[in-house]
This record gives sequence, structure tokens and C-alpha cells, in this order.
Amino acid sequence: MATIRPENPADNAGIHQLVEAAFAPVEQSDHTEQHIVDALRVAGALTVSLVAEDNNTLVGHVAASPVTLGTSAEGAHGWYGIGPVAVAPQRQGEGIGSALMEAALARLRAAGAAGAVVLGEPDYYNRFGFHPVPGLEYPGVPAKYFTACSFGPEIPLGKARYHPAFG
Ligand SMILES: CC(C)(COP(=O)(O)OP(=O)(O)OC[C@H]1O[C@@H](n2cnc3c(N)ncnc32)[C@H](O)[C@@H]1OP(=O)(O)O)[C@@H](O)C(=O)NCCC(=O)NCCS
Repeated sequence: MATIRPENPADNAGIHQLVEAAFAPVEQSDHTEQHIVDALRVAGALTVSLVAEDNNTLVGHVAASPVTLGTSAEGAHGWYGIGPVAVAPQRQGEGIGSALMEAALARLRAAGAAGAVVLGEPDYYNRFGFHPVPGLEYPGVPAKYFTACSFGPEIPLGKARYHPAFG
């Protein structure tokens, strides 16, 4: 089973290639996810960047970055967007993606975050505690594909904004 650890600078190129390869067959992707991770890192907005490693090979990666929810202009407000999450195509279905999601959530929680949001398949993300929140929206995306997991009692409503690296 793969080991999960924070990225280090020697991983940058490998993460880029891994994310590119994972999203290559995904129809709904615009295939820019690897550039998003690079841009978040350059902007200092890659709050969480964890790799899954097996036999000195990168087999998975998850990123999290600050999001602005509701009407707050302060930026993070303690909320983070998890994603992209990527597992090497030949290693999918082994639990690596789930382990990365759980590890990213644990890191955010331990850092005192208020909660996390994700953009993607609700059937995949609801197992980690993500659910659609009526009144919380990501403009341009059908409500069921934008889900939140609050670590506390409150979820700010309104519109969500990701870091500009998401374009
Ligand atoms: C999505 C992804 C990260 C999951 O990683 P993984 O290591 O294959 O996932 P796990 O082995 O932990 O979990 C597999 C489970 O997730 C389900 N699953 C995987 N992708 C899914 C999807 N897009 N929609 C719904 N369920 C999905 C599988 O059916 C499986 O379900 P089961 O446990 O009930 O059998 C990986 O498939 C991947 O890199 N995909 C391409 C990139 C992508 O789409 N990323 C997500 C959007 S940011």
C-alpha cells in the first residue's frame, strides 16, 4: 500500500505528470489540472499538497487551497477547496484516492479549518462527508456537483470562489 506524505520540491515535476496522466482520459476535464497545481504552488496557495508514494514512485496526489464562501471578502474564511485529486490510471480502485481524501481532510481539520468543498461526482465525495448545501453554489456548476463538508456547525451560504489559479 502506498505511503502518504507532504510534497517536497523534488516532487514538482512528478506531480505535474501524474495529474496530467490521471485526467487525460476524463471526458469532463479540460486537461488543465496539472497547471492549476503548479499555479497554486507558485502563488503560495497550495495549502495542502500530499503525495501517495509506492516504491519511490508517485501514484497519487491531492491538493487543497483556500476558497472564499458567502459574502466574506477576507479570502479563506477557514474554508478550503480540495482538488484536484489524482491517482495514476494503473493504480485506481485500490483505495489510494480515498486515503488521500481522508488525509487532506485530517490535515485541514488539524490546522483549524472550518470545512472543505469539492467540485465533482457527488457519489464519490459523499462517502467522505460531502453533501450539497442548499444556498451554497459554485456559479456555472449544477448544484449536485458542488458539495461541502463542514467541520463545525456552520456553513456560509452564497457563492463560492476558488483561487484565481483555477482560471
Ligand atoms: C477519482 C480518483 C481520484 C479516485 O481514486 P481511486 O484511488 O481510484 O479511488 P478509491 O480506490 O479510493 O475509491 C474507489 C471508489 O471510488 C469510486 N469512484 C472512483 N471514481 C469515481 C467517480 N468519478 N464517480 C463516482 N465514483 C467513483 C469507485 O467506483 C470505487 O467505489 P467503491 O469503493 O464503492 O468500489 C481516481 O479515479 C482518479 O484519479 N480519477 C481521474 C481524475 C479525477 O477524476 N479526479 C477527481 C476529480 S478532482
